[in-house]
Amino acid sequence: MMKTSVVTGANSGMGIVTVQKLLERGDRVIATVRSEKKANLLVQLMREHAVSDARLEVEVVELNQLSSVRRLAKRLTGRLDRIDCLILNAGIMVPPYHLTQDGFESQFQVNYLSHFLIVESLLPLLEKGDDPRVISISSLAGERGTVRTDIELQAVATVQKEHYSPMRSYRESKLLQSVHMRELAAVYGEKITFTSVHPGIVNTDLFYRGKGKVLKPLLKPVAKLGYWSKKLSTPEEGARTALYLATTSDPIQNGGYYADEALRTPNPIVEDAAFRKRARELSLMWCGLHRIEREPSL
Ligand SMILES: NC(=O)c1ccc[n+]([C@@H]2O[C@H](COP(=O)([O-])OP(=O)(O)OC[C@H]3O[C@@H](n4cnc5c(N)ncnc54)[C@H](OP(=O)(O)O)[C@@H]3O)[C@@H](O)[C@H]2O)c1
Repeated sequence: MMKTSVVTGANSGMGIVTVQKLLERGDRVIATVRSEKKANLLVQLMREHAVSDARLEVEVVELNQLSSVRRLAKRLTGRLDRIDCLILNAGIMVPPYHLTQDGFESQFQVNYLSHFLIVESLLPLLEKGDDPRVISISSLAGERGTVRTDIELQAVATVQKEHYSPMRSYRESKLLQSVHMRELAAVYGEKITFTSVHPGIVNTDLFYRGKGKVLKPLLKPVAKLGYWSKKLSTPEEGARTALYLATTSDPIQNGGYYADEALRTPNPIVEDAAFRKRARELSLMWCGLHRIEREPSL
């Protein structure tokens, strides 16, 4: 049966590779990007890679806006009868301070809360999937996150400029992605497999955006000398673990945190069931969704 997969952040870095490989395995792929222009570029890129775009459908979403995410979820719910694989790949790292129009710090919203809203909204479609899997691209950075109380979560979500640490916000957003996957595994694990991933340190545009813009002129000449290419993984290598989790018939640990196609020890906060439940309750509230409808079973 043809699988239906959804990938966010599809026009760059590991997202491009992920879309390409899923198309090559024969999936129908719904790829999200930020603009029509980027949608056209992605289609063109797939053609250049000699990948048929007949099963590629591109959706525009701005993860900085919960209203845009809600519209995406509504469109997908209207036209798909199931989702077999959902890869939450989009992300930003250490941008200058910005509060979104929804009132959240931008890394918190783009990396965590918008993906939270996507998964929660698409659970009914995932439940109808064939061996459905959700894979959230977290990071090694999340292993050093520290948020674990309501007050800390509130502070991370709406941090004020004078208290903003770009790296701390990145770390916490990545930890929360793993926390969410682990919690959903506890609640929906009988029907859907949820995992999070550290993809490695990968040579993508992620490092050249935000604060990284300062590094770009310095890194590019060094990259040409081959120094970084030896230190950093390629996007193909970076996408490998998520693709493994999307396609393998090996047993997968539901709620597990993976790197290099193997389980990796997560931040211990991921195992704090009380915090996970509270984080989900608060996040549901922030997203305008209501209650937790099932008790954890794992
Ligand atoms: N590279 C690494 O070493 C590394 C390490 C650990 C984890 N990760 C994680 O891996 C994932 C993929 O990153 P990458 O390295 O492939 O980076 P990338 O090349 O910068 O790709 C990031 C993707 O996210 C999209 N995106 C960013 N902000 C968005 C927004 N507001 N709305 C919608 N889409 C948005 C980007 O779209 P635009 O092009 O339109 O901005 C782009 O498609 C990220 O979650 C990142 O945190 C990366």
